[in-house]
Amino acid sequence: MVEVDHIGIAVRSLEASRGFYEGLGLAVGPPETVEAEQVRVAMVPTGNGRVELLEATKEDSVIGRFLASRGEGMHHVALRVGDVDGEFARMKRDGIRVVSERVRVGAGGHRYFFVHPASTGGVLVEIVGR
Ligand code: CO
Repeated sequence: MVEVDHIGIAVRSLEASRGFYEGLGLAVGPPETVEAEQVRVAMVPTGNGRVELLEATKEDSVIGRFLASRGEGMHHVALRVGDVDGEFARMKRDGIRVVSERVRVGAGGHRYFFVHPASTGGVLVEIVGR
């Protein structure tokens, strides 16, 4: 079954943003730097799914440019699938606009790729494996 894995939110500062989630009684995980994406990530587990707080480590990075042009806000929705490689191949075959040139390994060792908003109803979608 495909499930919502997390909602990615671009923030200027993990430290400044965590208080809201902690106020809800949620535990904000330790920040993890993903060099390939030039982000520091903190996961906030919820009952089902997670919130992923994303802070840029460089201004000239995907999240840095997003913050500069649009400010803080929702960046992507991540859906978890059983066969991430199979979905990557299927989407490429079906002409769905896949942003990533290949499946990558991200925070926590999860494998993922991104799908362009033009193919998803206007939202950047991350497909993650189990
Ligand atoms: Co994500």
